[in-house]
Amino acid sequence: CGIVGYTGGENCIEVLMEGLGHLEYRGYDSAGVALQGPEGVERVRSVGPLASLAERVAERNGHLSKLKVGIGHTRWATHGRPSELNAHPHTGREGSVAVVHNGIIENYAELRDGLRERGSTFASETDTEVVAHLIEEYTAAGLSLEEAVREVMPRLVGSFGLAAVSEREPGVIVAARRQSPLVVGFGEGENFLASAVQALLGRTRSFVAVENDEVVVLTSRSVSITTLDGAPVEREPFEVDWDAGAVELGGFPDYMSKEIHEQPAALRATLKDRLALDGTVSLDLAGQGLDLRGVERIVIAACGTAYHAGLVGKSVIERLARVPVEVAVASEYRYSEPVGDGKTLVIAVSQSGETIDTLAAVEAARGFGGRVLAVTNTRGSLITREADAVLLTHAGPEVAVASTKAFTTQVAVMQMFALELARVRGTLPEERLLELGRSLRLVPEKVEETLAALEGEYAERLAEAVEVFEDARCALFLGRGEAFPIALEGSLKMKEISYVPAEGYPAGEMKHGPIALVDERCPVVAVLGEGVVREKTLSNVDQTSARGANVICVARSDDADAKRLSRVVLPVPEAGGLIAPIVDSVPLQLLAYGVATSRGLNVDKPRNLAKSVTVE
Ligand code: G6P
Repeated sequence: CGIVGYTGGENCIEVLMEGLGHLEYRGYDSAGVALQGPEGVERVRSVGPLASLAERVAERNGHLSKLKVGIGHTRWATHGRPSELNAHPHTGREGSVAVVHNGIIENYAELRDGLRERGSTFASETDTEVVAHLIEEYTAAGLSLEEAVREVMPRLVGSFGLAAVSEREPGVIVAARRQSPLVVGFGEGENFLASAVQALLGRTRSFVAVENDEVVVLTSRSVSITTLDGAPVEREPFEVDWDAGAVELGGFPDYMSKEIHEQPAALRATLKDRLALDGTVSLDLAGQGLDLRGVERIVIAACGTAYHAGLVGKSVIERLARVPVEVAVASEYRYSEPVGDGKTLVIAVSQSGETIDTLAAVEAARGFGGRVLAVTNTRGSLITREADAVLLTHAGPEVAVASTKAFTTQVAVMQMFALELARVRGTLPEERLLELGRSLRLVPEKVEETLAALEGEYAERLAEAVEVFEDARCALFLGRGEAFPIALEGSLKMKEISYVPAEGYPAGEMKHGPIALVDERCPVVAVLGEGVVREKTLSNVDQTSARGANVICVARSDDADAKRLSRVVLPVPEAGGLIAPIVDSVPLQLLAYGVATSRGLNVDKPRNLAKSVTVE
C-alpha cells in the first residue's frame, strides 16, 4: 500500500494524485483521498486502479483544487476485499477525522468490539476504520489530533504507518509509525509525507525517515517529530538524487520494458567506483565498521526475487571465498530460532529495504549477536538504518512489480562482495581475483549485446519461444549451479506476469518428479550456463525432449548441441568469468514479458501482487 500527505499552498489534490501515481505499483486494488475543506473532511474513494479515482476527482475538481491539506492512499487489500467501502481513507463515527494506514492492526477485532459497545457502527471490514474511530473518540472529547494519536498508539498491536487529518485542526496532518515505513519530505512553505520517497520525486529531494513509535505533526511551515513520550527528535535529513524522470515511462510502453532496458546503465552505476579497470574491488565495508576478517559463516535472508539473487550469492561466495553460506527465505528465518553468533554475517537483500519479513530476519540476527550487511536499492530505507553496513545497488527506482534491474544489480553486488571476501581471506591468488573482477566489468556491455541480439538479429527466435507458450498449461525452468537460481527467477517472472504455472528446478533433480508434467503443452526452458554444468544440463534436457517437450534453451548462439536438442535457442554472448548469471537472466525476462504481453496482460501490475510487502 502507499501513503501520501501534503500541506501547503499548492494544489493539494494534484500533489496527492501525482504521489499516488508514483506509488500505485505498491497496491492498486483501490485508492482514495481526504482533504480538509470548509465543510469538514471531504473524501473521494474508488475501487480499481488510480484512473478510476482520477475520474471521481475530476468530477469534483473545481472544488477540490481549492483545498490545501490532505492525505491519500493506494491499497493492497489485507483486511477486507477490494471495494469502495474498504478503500482508505477511513473516517470516525462523525466523519470528522480521516485516516490512511499501511500495515496490520492485529487486535482490531477486540478494539472494534469495544467501540461497538460504545455505539460505533462500521462501514467497512478494515482494521483501519477502527483506528479512525478510536482517534475520533479522543478528538471529540477535546484532545488535539496529536494527543489523540498518542493515546491510540499504545493500544494498537501490530504494524502501522498512518496519517490523519481532523476537521477541528485546519492545516495539520498527524502521522505515526511502527514497523511500516514513513518519510517526511521538506519544502518551502509546504511539507510532505509519504510511505516511500518515490511518491515525492519532483517535489522535494530532502527527506527525513520516521522511526518506530514516533509521532509527526506537519503544517505548511513546520515539522515536529517526537517520540511516544513526547521527547523531540532531531535527525539529519537525507538527500535523494533520483529525479522525477526516473519514474516516468520516457517512451517505453510500460515500466517493465523500460527497466529491462535500463539494466546496462544500472549495472554500470552499481559497478562504478567499486570495481577498478584492473579488476580490483573496493567496497569500503571496513570504512563502515564491518570487518570481514572474523566472518566464519554467512546467512543471506531475503524474499522473492531478492532471494534468488541470494542463491547466486551463495554459490559465488562459497566458490571464491570458501565460507559456508545459508540462504534463507526471510519469513521462515525469522521464526526458525536461528543459530548464529558474532562470527555470523547476515546479508539482507531487499530492493525496497522495507520488506517486513526481511527486516524481521535482521532483527532475529541481532538476537544472536550477528553482524548485518544490507544490500538494497533504496537510500534511507528502513533496512539501511538497521544494518551495520550497506551496499546500495544503483538501479534507480524500480516501478514494475516484477523485478528485473534490481535483480541483476543485486547479483553484481553479491559477486563483488564474493571477490572482496576472497581477497580478505586469501582463498584465491590475487591475479585470479583481478581476472574475475575484469570479467565483471564487461557485464553491462554483454547485457547490451544480449538485448540488441534478441530484439534485432534474433527477434524471430524470441517470437517463436513466445509462440511455444501460446497454449502452454505449465512450464519447467531448469538449470544447474549458478544457472539454477537464474532458472528459478525465470520461472518466477513467468508466473508473476503471465500466470503460467512454472516450476524452477535443478536440472538433475527434475527426473525425481517434475518430469511427470512434461508433454507438448509443458515447455521446458533450460539455462545451460558455462562449464561442466552445461553438459549435464544438456543431458537432462535430452530426457525431456525424448518425452515430447518443446525445449527452449538459453545458450550461446553457436552451441550446436543446444540447437540439436531444442526447438528454440535464445542466444547469449560468450560469458566467461562471472558474467553468465546476469546475462542469462535477460532472455528469460524478455520471454516472460513477451508471453504476458501476447496474452494482453498488464505486465506492470500483475493481479494480486504488490511491489513492496510491508505486512507479514
Ligand atoms: C514482492 C515483490 C518482488 C520482490 C519481493 C521482495 O514480492 O513483488 O518483486 O522480489 O517483494 O522485495 P524486496 O523489496 O525486499 O526486494
